[in-house]
Amino acid sequence: MCGIMGYIGERAAVPVLLDGLRRLEYRGYDSAGVAVVEDGAIAVRKSAGKLSQLVKVVEQIPLSGDIGIGHTRWATHGHPSDENAHPHADCRERVVVIHNGIIENFLSLKEELLARGHRFRSDTDTEVLAHLIEEAYRGDLAAAVEQAVAQASGAYALVVLSADEPDKIVAVRRISPLIVGLGQNEILLASDIPALLPHTRDVIVIEDGELAVLTRGGVAISRIGGGPVDRLPMRVTWDAAAAEKGGFAHFMLKEIHEQPRALQETMMGRLPSDEEIALDGVALGPESARRLSKVWIVACGTAYHAALVGRTLLEQLARIPTEVDLGSEFRYRSPLVSGGALAVAVSQSGETADTLAAAREARARGARALAVVNVVGSTLAREAEDVLYTRAGPEIAVCSTKAYLTQLAALAMLATALGQARGTIAPPRVSALIQGLRALPAKAQAVLSLEPAIIALAERLQRTEDAFFIGRGLDYPLAMEGSLKLKEISYVHSEALAAGELKHGTLALVVPGVVVVALGTQPALIEKTVSNVQQVGARGAEVVGVATESTAPVLAPHVDELITVPAIDPLLAPVLAAIPLQLLAYHMARLRGHDVDQPRNLAKSVTVE
Ligand code: AGP
Repeated sequence: MCGIMGYIGERAAVPVLLDGLRRLEYRGYDSAGVAVVEDGAIAVRKSAGKLSQLVKVVEQIPLSGDIGIGHTRWATHGHPSDENAHPHADCRERVVVIHNGIIENFLSLKEELLARGHRFRSDTDTEVLAHLIEEAYRGDLAAAVEQAVAQASGAYALVVLSADEPDKIVAVRRISPLIVGLGQNEILLASDIPALLPHTRDVIVIEDGELAVLTRGGVAISRIGGGPVDRLPMRVTWDAAAAEKGGFAHFMLKEIHEQPRALQETMMGRLPSDEEIALDGVALGPESARRLSKVWIVACGTAYHAALVGRTLLEQLARIPTEVDLGSEFRYRSPLVSGGALAVAVSQSGETADTLAAAREARARGARALAVVNVVGSTLAREAEDVLYTRAGPEIAVCSTKAYLTQLAALAMLATALGQARGTIAPPRVSALIQGLRALPAKAQAVLSLEPAIIALAERLQRTEDAFFIGRGLDYPLAMEGSLKLKEISYVHSEALAAGELKHGTLALVVPGVVVVALGTQPALIEKTVSNVQQVGARGAEVVGVATESTAPVLAPHVDELITVPAIDPLLAPVLAAIPLQLLAYHMARLRGHDVDQPRNLAKSVTVE
């Protein structure tokens, strides 16, 4: 998964491209490159390593020109190296391409091209596209690009520059995201919105199967093998600052502190009264809600943990059988999905390949698709019948935080609305849940004030190498999320398990010094959780408890350290109790000197299987 940038206008292209790539670096950061039209020829600079490496190269050998393309890479085919960095050129170095996605049939295409005398410089799948365009070129670059991608299968956001037509950029999309930004006397192109915000708020999403030609005069979009497409620009409300760190040391910490606002915005206009939930973008009416036979939720990573909470909410509030599947597993178990079912796909980016494929699989089997997604105009959003946007704003840090909290809030609103439509929850319960939801932003703000105590805890635990997160009921998926956060950025080996499972094996690993984080936010289960805490305490574990004001008195005597969040409806407790877990992981990673926003081996959204 990579970041793509393009510029055509009156300014020097390279500074705009490099700034855009800096804002896209969370999408992949193992190599980068730019290409510009310079005196009628194409000039390329590229380098393995972070963007800062490329900046050094460009400083040593500057580039001029006001038309250019740029790329930051997350390797899928061909290890990170200068040769495998994008852009890639054809044999004559008259055409250069940058690409986000995977060309699944590149090996067979490469063999054919080699047999026809083409010379390859890299091990990437992308380079075949440059040579295919070279072969197809007959004086019309757009036509050549169309012919080239017609031979390719897989996913691509492909952007092309040619010395033979130096006054244009040609871009084409299948699956991987591409957005055009309309600026003052300039046109920009990027993989997503944050890279465009410093220049414009007027954007046009390039849809699947579309080709765009950018010239000084504007952008012309057409369907591959079809006619022109007329699409009005969309005005983005996010401002450039939203994409910057706002004074925090890392995007992750900024995004943790943005959660009260993100929750507020996600509920804005959706809780019109204490009696009603209004979900814009969800056309599923009361009648269809009553007829629903089953809900399938598909998601990956942190979104999957939100989905697990969503299952309990849907089953308890809407009394509808609900199954949760990992996106990467769902379609390979030939699920018994049928018409009358609702398939809910949860995703921050809306571009995660496994989740997209699972959602498509469920639809193909007759389910209605509802997307709970954060990125406006993303593939998942465009393919679903119903779209419930989480309004978390741009989430830059690889480690998902505010998107997770807004997913929980969105799923709680969905479950309550479905329960109301199906008549499975009484009006007083609906009002209590709506009041609980409305109280979340202020209570989340209160939890953030616990940060100093959590920093002190992180200082004490920073050298931990093994940790366990335990919980019962809704605290189990919460434990999974806490454990993932710690693993992702502090690189501590961590495991989450249902507290009741300890005695069936894992307890053997609990020895003095091991850290156990015990989630105890569920009043109905707190006594049971305490007995599990006593089991690990008795084996010398260092136990950190997380409770609400109502469960804290029960848990406090049994833990070494207790973090207490405000009292809240047990079904909404994961929203508040997740915040201390995020802060603990963040500060342990910071204290261990790790690259918190760009943890090793990971990327923000995974658009490959
Ligand atoms: C979470 O911190 C990770 N970045 C990762 O597990 C992520 O949740 C997963 O890849 C799903 O991404 P999505 O929500 O964009 O689909």
